[in-house]
Amino acid sequence: FEGMTISELAKRTGRSIPFLEEILVNVGEEVGSEFDPVSIDVVELIAMEVGVNVKRLHSNEGAELLPRPPVVTVMGHVDHGKTSLLDALCQTSVAAKESGGITQHLGAFVVDMPSGASITFLDTPGHAALSAMRARGAAVTDIVVLVVAADDGVMPQTLEAMAHAKAANVPVVVAVNKCDKPAADPERVRIQLGSEGLLLEDMGGDVQVVEVSAVTKAGLDKLEEALLLQAELMDLKARIDGPAQAYVVEARLDRGRGPMATAIVKAGTLMCGQYVVVGAEWGKIRTIRDMLGKVKDKALPSMPFEFEGLRGLPMAGDDITVVNSEERARMLSEGRGKKLEKNRLEKIGEGRIETPNESE
Ligand code: GTP
Ligand code: MG
Repeated sequence: FEGMTISELAKRTGRSIPFLEEILVNVGEEVGSEFDPVSIDVVELIAMEVGVNVKRLHSNEGAELLPRPPVVTVMGHVDHGKTSLLDALCQTSVAAKESGGITQHLGAFVVDMPSGASITFLDTPGHAALSAMRARGAAVTDIVVLVVAADDGVMPQTLEAMAHAKAANVPVVVAVNKCDKPAADPERVRIQLGSEGLLLEDMGGDVQVVEVSAVTKAGLDKLEEALLLQAELMDLKARIDGPAQAYVVEARLDRGRGPMATAIVKAGTLMCGQYVVVGAEWGKIRTIRDMLGKVKDKALPSMPFEFEGLRGLPMAGDDITVVNSEERARMLSEGRGKKLEKNRLEKIGEGRIETPNESE
């Protein structure tokens, strides 16, 4: 849609040129000739006004693509050791060690390896984050670590996680955890996974299996190697230049600083001072911090960061769109807010969701 003219928009939406020009005037846009190209934000605004759905397609054409670290989500059955494994992995990071460790993950952390390679781990409840982002058509997750406890074996949520990964078209690396336990039976886990249709490496497939223990930390280096190997096979690259395409991983309200969001850039570069629309919220990026709390002036692909400057609290999975001015940000978020409200009312009308309880 980028670079579309008013004349073309009129054809596509079936609305008259004066009608569209009026919308433009209302949002403070300069209206030149009907053959002048309009910006993508304006296209989105017009589309919302006339009830057409648009999806922003970010073109990487002609842009230089550079390698980026993989973004990994840990999933698995309850109590199989997802949190323990993430904590243990976080402690293996060179940077985390140097800075005296991280007390709070805030939804994501980066493991820096002595080799210079790094892996980004998402710390959010796997299922929720993955489906929220998938629903928005954009998985930030490149690889799923499927955690299976060696003593417990494949359980219902193991299968659910497998199904999620498959639906999102994200490759899986299996971490057979709790291998320190006397009752551990990694071989049985392999057989179970194989019979559930996972094509494991040692059975001729390409899904890697690594035996680990979050408690003794055995095998963590192997797991990291396996993830980097998987990433290499996927040839992960991103455009660095140009406007950021980013997603919220987690959001929280800080009493002093207001709404804070942890996010990951998928492509492009997000910079301090930029105006953004995040889901139906908007703001100006005031501060960017990396996961060690260091203040940065920009955020690059695959590197999680926390930022302040939003007017309201966004939701995990919300997309972050950079716009040119405060005015645009305001208009777009208003438009999106109205659209969300309309969708919600329609759903209530269809009896698909419950009306919020008064006491909540
Ligand atoms: P939920 O978030 O509730 O789904 O659980 P989880 O998957 O995050 O599991 P968590 O890390 O909380 O671990 C559950 C229990 O297993 C805890 O008591 C851990 O101490 C224990 N545990 C986790 N990993 C290991 C391991 O490698 N070896 C042993 N022996 N115990 C482990
Ligand atoms: Mg947990």
